[in-house]
Amino acid sequence: MKIHILSDQMASRIAAGEVVERPAAVVKELIENSLDAAATEISIALEKSGTALIRVTDNGEGMGPDDLSLAVERHATSKLGDETDLFRVATLGFRGEALPSIGSVSKMEIVSRLPTAQTGYRIRIEGGKKDAPIVAASGPGTRVEIREIFFNTPARRKFLKSPATELSHICDVVNRLALAHPSVHFVMSHDDRIIADYAAVRDGKDRLHQVLGRGIAKDLIPFAWSRRELTIGGYLSSAPVSFPNARYVMTFVNRRFVRDKVVMHAVLYGYETLLMKGQYPAVMLFLQIPYAEVDVNVHPAKFEVRFRRQSEVHEAVADAIREALKQEAKHPLLRIPAAAPPAFGGVMEAPLPYPIRSALEREGQGFNDDAFPKFAGHSQTFGAGFFSSMDILGQILGCYVVCASPRGLALIDQHAAHERIFFEKFRRQLVAGEVQKQSLLIPQTIELTAGELLLLEQKLALVERLGFVLEPFGPNAYAITAVPALLPEEDYRPIVRRMISELAEVENSEKLRQHLEKRLATMACHSVIRANRKLEMSEIQALLCELDQVDFATQCPHGRPVLIQFHRDDLDRMFKRVV
Ligand SMILES: Nc1ncnc2c1ncn2[C@@H]1O[C@H](COP(=O)(O)OP(=O)(O)OP(=O)(O)O)[C@@H](O)[C@H]1O
Ligand SMILES: [Mg+2]
Repeated sequence: MKIHILSDQMASRIAAGEVVERPAAVVKELIENSLDAAATEISIALEKSGTALIRVTDNGEGMGPDDLSLAVERHATSKLGDETDLFRVATLGFRGEALPSIGSVSKMEIVSRLPTAQTGYRIRIEGGKKDAPIVAASGPGTRVEIREIFFNTPARRKFLKSPATELSHICDVVNRLALAHPSVHFVMSHDDRIIADYAAVRDGKDRLHQVLGRGIAKDLIPFAWSRRELTIGGYLSSAPVSFPNARYVMTFVNRRFVRDKVVMHAVLYGYETLLMKGQYPAVMLFLQIPYAEVDVNVHPAKFEVRFRRQSEVHEAVADAIREALKQEAKHPLLRIPAAAPPAFGGVMEAPLPYPIRSALEREGQGFNDDAFPKFAGHSQTFGAGFFSSMDILGQILGCYVVCASPRGLALIDQHAAHERIFFEKFRRQLVAGEVQKQSLLIPQTIELTAGELLLLEQKLALVERLGFVLEPFGPNAYAITAVPALLPEEDYRPIVRRMISELAEVENSEKLRQHLEKRLATMACHSVIRANRKLEMSEIQALLCELDQVDFATQCPHGRPVLIQFHRDDLDRMFKRVV
């Protein structure tokens, strides 16, 4: 027998709470059990969005009759031994709670056969009452059937949403599990119609295509990163691809889908200054971390985790994302053409497509390597100087530089380009702690209210770090005596005044860092050549050279594009040369 009942003491340490609140939760628990049983084929059959029937069949390690009987008892599990195991959980399940919880609110039948056994066994549980297992015909593996979920708890039944909503929750659950386990074949049917069929694939990118559909998957680039015991990899979108919500940001820790604030924040932080306000990227992030470094026993549905070294994880994830985006921005030749950017404003929120079986998808079938999904990362290296190697055709409308690129036509927003250049230069100085200042021949005096004065006194050191030197000048004024050397000559009072009011909101150092970057973006905006200025050829050349030298040259610090390319295909399409 593999299953045993946990001691009371162990059982009491397990995160308690509602395990099944809707059909999707049942589907999740059952598939997780199949994956833990090392299944390579998992099929899910649903009727009426799971409310009438959920049947999950796998070809995993199965259970003998005694285990079958124990499996539906509370705190019965094969996955935890002693107490220390709770702090290094390597399986998706660990509490021995799922089957009994499901069995207490439904009519459940489990049929299972050990691959080595002659025959299978069946057990039934209705509203928590179980029969003895009896011999039953079965292939090797396990089939769990749940009928009439919540038949004995009408209150919970009432809380179910529309059938379409419940079904979409189930699809989400299956898709996430499928993304993390590309070498497992998943088939799902609803009311006898196949709605998903993801053949086993070797490459995680193929699974991405199966699950997300080509439309989204084609824009995602693989990345891979590691530091000490942390491995981070997956797929991400680079600007200008973006979405109006975080629907396509999915994070996995040791192949478990989680909604973790730390990881989520780190992902978005990695994108800082690259996306316009209110826009989100698409990121499938797989974090691998030693089991002992993460506590999975914190949430009843196992959707959350706690990291032992939270800030280290945050930093690693943000670095991984940023590094990948930096690499990507270095060779925008590979960028998707932005002729019709899906990014700004009107992205329609379509449900995830669930492609049905196609010959193409079947190709990879039978592959059975259960290794952690592999990500290629970028291997191509390009000659330096994407921007400076283009042929400059000229400037139009006083604000766009027009170039011929190897692939077609490139348009550069000179204002956005200058902003990014300034921003990156300044950021480098700031990070190095040496913002170059230049003294003003004629100091500019700034009158302040009592409140502002107070604030400024507290934040004077900070303001100085940003390159501004202010000295008291009479009872209610300060004089600006030096400014960052990178700033062009202008009236600096508005920018200083704004800085003071914004500094008021900064209390801790994390906020401060973010804040400084935001200030930088504002200063960048102030610093640069406004639109409607004729550029000399030499100025354009200098601009392109500088773009080659900074990171993230394809986006301004507010996330607007610097570069838009029309590749030959786009032009051909626009001129209706191709069908
Ligand atoms: N599809 C399956 N194939 C083989 N064994 C299974 C299967 N499903 C469940 N089991 C066995 O039954 C036990 C109880 O399952 P259950 O889902 O209730 O608990 P668990 O997976 O151990 O923990 P959790 O409550 O966190 O899911 C498992 O530990 C496993 O040994
Ligand atoms: Mg389980």
